[in-house]
Amino acid sequence: MGIGTICLAPLRGVTGLRFRQSFQAYMTGLDLAVAPFIATVQGERVKPEILRGIDPAVQPAGLPLIPQVIGKDPRQLRVMLRAMKSLGYKQVDLNSGCPWPFVVKKGRGAGLLRDEAVLGAMLEAGCEELGEGNFSIKVRLGIEEKTLLKQRLALIQRFPLRELCIHPRTARQMYEGSVDLDAFEEVAQQTILPLTYNGDIRSLEDWQRLAQRFPMVNRWMLGRGIVANPFLAESIRSGKDTREKTRFEQWHNDLVARYAEHAPGDHALLGHLKELWSYLAPTFENGEKIWNSLKIVRTRDEFERVLKMMPLRWK
Ligand SMILES: Cc1cc2nc3c(=O)[nH]c(=O)nc-3n(C[C@H](O)[C@H](O)[C@H](O)COP(=O)(O)O)c2cc1C
Repeated sequence: MGIGTICLAPLRGVTGLRFRQSFQAYMTGLDLAVAPFIATVQGERVKPEILRGIDPAVQPAGLPLIPQVIGKDPRQLRVMLRAMKSLGYKQVDLNSGCPWPFVVKKGRGAGLLRDEAVLGAMLEAGCEELGEGNFSIKVRLGIEEKTLLKQRLALIQRFPLRELCIHPRTARQMYEGSVDLDAFEEVAQQTILPLTYNGDIRSLEDWQRLAQRFPMVNRWMLGRGIVANPFLAESIRSGKDTREKTRFEQWHNDLVARYAEHAPGDHALLGHLKELWSYLAPTFENGEKIWNSLKIVRTRDEFERVLKMMPLRWK
């Protein structure tokens, strides 16, 4: 059984430029990454600072990047796609999965699934602007009900998309509760588009179970699982747990240094580090203790002291 393609999920504030840079410097196993969403803007011009995180000049080698757009206005989408094209990107993804109520209420993110006409107009604009096989969509099963995606499938697959990426939860679920694999399977059996599975792959065993159940899937997207365990993609590729303390520390130190270089002070730096450790800590035996100590630190020195004191043993 081939493994297929492994893609880094977009996690705004987490799998941004610095994370991707450190990942490529110390880890392996990813084939590509989708960048955290960039919102469409009014007017004809996209300010360069909005696109800083996807500036091709600073992207790590060996990890092709697909920018992602969030929005609901086809004209604004075209403006953003042209700006991304002018940076050299040929492929872009449309966010139709963001579950935050204020986003969904405005018809963006998962809210795009609500209005067939708007969804169709967005897909049409994206495919026209980028050409066949270059626009893609990342979706949930629905907003309140898990049947909405199924209802929209005929519309979605009228367009020559690069792929349909499904996170099989409803927006209402946010990131809680279980993924609905039966509902995913139904869509998987019906779709003619290349399909990516995304959601709750936290270990080699999780992936093995999914790969066995869904032989028709050969594209996998890893999010919180690979943030918590940056060895996850290479573990999947090699069929064994490849976690290793020295490389973990090198990767971590590199990431801290990259965040520090661009953070205006300890406060901003600690924001990044605490968010990172909210994913990392639970993978360690003494995870709760580590997290309880880290979440209250106020300076970088304190943060480093706490980590030095804590024995890190993976579960
Ligand atoms: C903090 C956070 C930020 C996220 N930002 C984005 C985003 O910018 N675009 C997107 O399509 N999904 C975003 N997601 C959803 C993830 O890409 C992914 O679909 C979700 O976490 C489920 O996959 P996982 O279980 O592998 O993490 C975000 C999720 C989290 C937790």
